Amino acid sequence: MTAARESIHGQWSSRWIFVLAATGSAVGLGNIWRFPYITGESGGGAFVLVYLACVVLVGLPIMMAEILLGRRGRRSPINTMAALAEDEGLKPAWRYLGWMGVLAGFVILSFYSVVAGWAVAYIVYVASGTFAGATIETSQGIFDGLTGSAGSLVLWHSLFMVMVVVVVARGVQGGLEQAVKYLMPALFAMLLLLVGYALFSGDAVSALHYLFEPDFSKITGDAVLTALGQAFFSLSLGMGSIMIYGSYLPNDASIPQTSIIIAAADTLVALLAGLAIFPIVFGYGLEPGQGPGLVFITLTIAFGHMPGGQFFGGMFFVLLTVAAWTSAISLLEPVAAWMVESFGWSRLKSCLVGGGGAWLLGIGSALSFNHWAGFAPGGRNFFDWSEFLSTSVLLPLGGMLIAVFAGWRMRLASTMEEMGGGPSAMFRAWLGLILFVAPVGVLVVFLEGTGLRALLVDALGRLAASVFG
Ligand code: PHE
Repeated sequence: MTAARESIHGQWSSRWIFVLAATGSAVGLGNIWRFPYITGESGGGAFVLVYLACVVLVGLPIMMAEILLGRRGRRSPINTMAALAEDEGLKPAWRYLGWMGVLAGFVILSFYSVVAGWAVAYIVYVASGTFAGATIETSQGIFDGLTGSAGSLVLWHSLFMVMVVVVVARGVQGGLEQAVKYLMPALFAMLLLLVGYALFSGDAVSALHYLFEPDFSKITGDAVLTALGQAFFSLSLGMGSIMIYGSYLPNDASIPQTSIIIAAADTLVALLAGLAIFPIVFGYGLEPGQGPGLVFITLTIAFGHMPGGQFFGGMFFVLLTVAAWTSAISLLEPVAAWMVESFGWSRLKSCLVGGGGAWLLGIGSALSFNHWAGFAPGGRNFFDWSEFLSTSVLLPLGGMLIAVFAGWRMRLASTMEEMGGGPSAMFRAWLGLILFVAPVGVLVVFLEGTGLRALLVDALGRLAASVFG
């Protein structure tokens, strides 16, 4: 039996701090603009139900597995996977799973920081009154002006990356913990205030219809797939973030209980974000299905006309920045911790090298909107490739392998011990989901997201035609 390890990086002061930190990782750009928009497009209330099912049946079991692995290994994902493979008498090659996670985090951080930089820039724009009396044209012009300027993009990207490095360099208790302790309550307070403002000054009824009226005819295979992919990204699964946060979790904290709270909070924030955005969008007769432009181009037009729009609009982008910030620190942490462990570097040096590397890679993403816009091998520019390789390839693949490792490869005695002891109903439910439902669910997302399914179907079709035709 493995004696409980200790992490050289420290430990969360309480399980509540862990819940705040993991919720901070989960709540990000994915919740505040993407969820509301795809919910509306994919059937509103019916989509929300499908999303909830995906969170409970696939997201939650994988989250428990990641925390479990992290806490048992008590190291960065790479060294955790190496240590657990050894404990369990498995092949050392399992450490590559840790590698995939850390690599995915590194790549996500690079482009996440560029988009988060837009949010920081917009705090200044909106609060200084740039959008006063804005029309669709002027709003679009402001957005194009920002993304068209490589210098501005790199500047805001650099500022955001410095914010991330400053927190992570101060360590688990001195940095991450202090950040989430203040930022997460502030995030919830701002969100509630903005929901109140939106419900009172916008068209609450239309927004509620749009978000919650179930239209089951819109639930297609595509919608289910979108829901599953969104659940995965939104819960920060499939890479090192949740695993490393789990490695700082005290031994007496319950993994099922904390996971349920984190997943519920993440979902709640996504729904509240919809309630902060859509009443305003409908109240001003704007188009809700704008995708990436929804908060930057559409919502800002309304802020330019509303009483108090400058103040509350500024607050909206502070909220977006804070949400992105607490997610980004969970992306740098696995990289930095691995460097500390493997090279014996100081935390500061590890953060400078890890954050600096992600910053450099992010420049490629920043340039994708201007100088390198025409450079798109395979139909994707640098930004698109970074996003595709990390979120559509590495995340689902990592998630599936985590499910396989925890469910199929680890000894039952080990997982049961970490999950709180005996073969409780909760443990058996988790086991059933992690053995069968989660790996298959994620495999489907992976095949679909990468276009491999279409290739397979096509190849099989041609094979059949050549055999029978
Ligand atoms: N969950 C974050 C969001 O919703 C993104 C993220 C993914 C963060 C993976 C960390 C790891 O924006």
